[in-house]
Amino acid sequence: MTAGHKIAQKTATGFQTSPPVPQVTVLSIYMNVLNIIFIITGALLMMANIYRYLRFLYTTTDVLSSEDMKDKIWKNTAFLLLIFFFIGYVFIAVFSRPDFMMAMVLFWGSVFVAIVLTLMFTLLQSAKERSIEIAEALVGVIDARDSNLNGHSRHVQELTMMFYSYLPAGMKREISPISLSYASLMHDVGKLGVPESILNKPAKLDDNEWEIMKKHPDIGVKILKPLQAFDNISNWILYHHERVDGKGYHLLKAEEIPLAARIIAIADTYSAITMRRSYKDARTHEEAVRIISEAAGTQLDEELVKIFLGIPKEELEKCIPEQLEY
Ligand SMILES: [Fe+2]
Repeated sequence: MTAGHKIAQKTATGFQTSPPVPQVTVLSIYMNVLNIIFIITGALLMMANIYRYLRFLYTTTDVLSSEDMKDKIWKNTAFLLLIFFFIGYVFIAVFSRPDFMMAMVLFWGSVFVAIVLTLMFTLLQSAKERSIEIAEALVGVIDARDSNLNGHSRHVQELTMMFYSYLPAGMKREISPISLSYASLMHDVGKLGVPESILNKPAKLDDNEWEIMKKHPDIGVKILKPLQAFDNISNWILYHHERVDGKGYHLLKAEEIPLAARIIAIADTYSAITMRRSYKDARTHEEAVRIISEAAGTQLDEELVKIFLGIPKEELEKCIPEQLEY
């Protein structure tokens, strides 16, 4: 006799029937609790992954970040996929009452995303460090090759970062300090492509030599081109000799010149005036202030010059690197 027949017989004889009671065992309770723990932990991990990725997208605007459109598309696509995965995760967890296997898939999916992100950030950091080491080596070569520039790059870097600390908050937000620091350090890296006879000439350059010297911002960009980490600072280096009146090397005017390039130009001018070179003596801070004031509005940005000249003399003098002699 089948179970169906027994039920039918009991019903026919007036016995009370009751719906089948699911077997609730300790094991099933344990598995359910475990499911919930895995699903909640996985969801929290996914939220942390999204937060980490968002921070990477919107706060990493230093030498690591690429301005390349293709890279931006990939980065945003990856972000959309993360969001899609998270929505799918929540949907499955809430509406489909996942079993233990499904909970494990969701949880380990979140762990996998976390591992991939960590690996990606580590590789990017490593690439950044290698690029910075190469840049530091290049600056060492400039210093060694040109006695006139010994310590100048570091001096401009120190001055620029001191200048940055005095900028109003609105301007600071426009520039990544890390990128500015490296752009100012490497602003003259293109002088590696200028003949030593011109760099170390113990007299003023003639017109022909000046034409060669004026190519150093373009050469700098070419030198740094293979180092993708410096993509977003190449324009700052390219335009560090522009003048706000449009009579610079590339004829850019005022706001057309990147803010960072206008900042570096002032620090570069101050350093060039106050450091000793083979063809001239070092000038005093007061002389530098006078020359820079006169150049405001023609060669240098007037508003930025006002801010720069508001920096106390003692602060600017702290920016002199040890090897730079006055
Ligand atoms: Fe320069």
